Amino acid sequence: MSSSDKNPQASDLPTNQKTPTDADTSAESKGTTHFGYKTIEKDDKISMVAGVFHSVAKQYDVMNDLMSFGIHRLWKRFTIDASGVRPGNKVLDLAGGTGDLTAKFSKLVGREGKVVLADINSSMLNVGRDKLRDKGLVQNIDYVQANAEYLPFEENTFDIVTIAFGLRNVTDKDKALRSIYSVLKPGGRLLVLEFSKPEHELLNKAYDFYSFNILPKMGELVAKDGESYKYLAESIRMHPDQETLKSMMDNAGFEQTSFKNLTGGVVALHKGYKF
Ligand SMILES: C[S@@+](CC[C@H](N)C(=O)[O-])C[C@H]1O[C@@H](n2cnc3c(N)ncnc32)[C@H](O)[C@@H]1O
Repeated sequence: MSSSDKNPQASDLPTNQKTPTDADTSAESKGTTHFGYKTIEKDDKISMVAGVFHSVAKQYDVMNDLMSFGIHRLWKRFTIDASGVRPGNKVLDLAGGTGDLTAKFSKLVGREGKVVLADINSSMLNVGRDKLRDKGLVQNIDYVQANAEYLPFEENTFDIVTIAFGLRNVTDKDKALRSIYSVLKPGGRLLVLEFSKPEHELLNKAYDFYSFNILPKMGELVAKDGESYKYLAESIRMHPDQETLKSMMDNAGFEQTSFKNLTGGVVALHKGYKF
């Protein structure tokens, strides 16, 4: 499959941003959704997102470090600290990909605990499983291929669910949030780590320049896949902003919802509880 097959170029929205609120009303309500800036049939999104992650899986970790200058490690560390994880906890690392959060949780929940690394994409799961096994992390980790919208777990199973840089790729985010709510135990919490909206206009402009001019070139040079990294930049701009995502969590039933901006709002960590 050529890169243009798996990740089409044509943008039918202006690159100077359409707000997620517009996106919700103009596309998502009509059986269409967004793949980056492109409006597509909802049914097509899973396979298009799959194309991206099958393509980037092997280079994913290297590119993550390069693109974020290693800062994604701090964002993930912050997420673990905010989760309040304890020995013996059961944790779902949803859209867990190559398993950075799973690796950290695995050490913290210990022998009595369990971490489930779930992802829809077999290539990402395979890279993650190989990496964690190479680190000697085998005892308390399960691997599950699953769609966040239809989680294959009993109700009230997990103390903590995390979804890091995954939610924006999910077709029906509200359905995924309801599905996550269902599998959390009462007292359990969801942490959503995701790109968001920078707080200051100057940072926003610099970030736009970096995302649309430098990122795809880096992707082309290092991963030989500029198109997937163009999708990355576009999907970030189409993702709900901080307040919108917080409302979506409220609507899914989460309580005491809050968010913390990281790196000036380039990324936000949302948290909500099920009581
Ligand atoms: C950008 S990666 C993030 C991986 C990892 N959480 C991290 O922070 O490094 C996004 C992941 O979301 C997964 N994903 C996309 N749509 C999904 C869905 N509907 N259900 C579960 N996982 C999904 C992709 O396969 C990919 O592994």
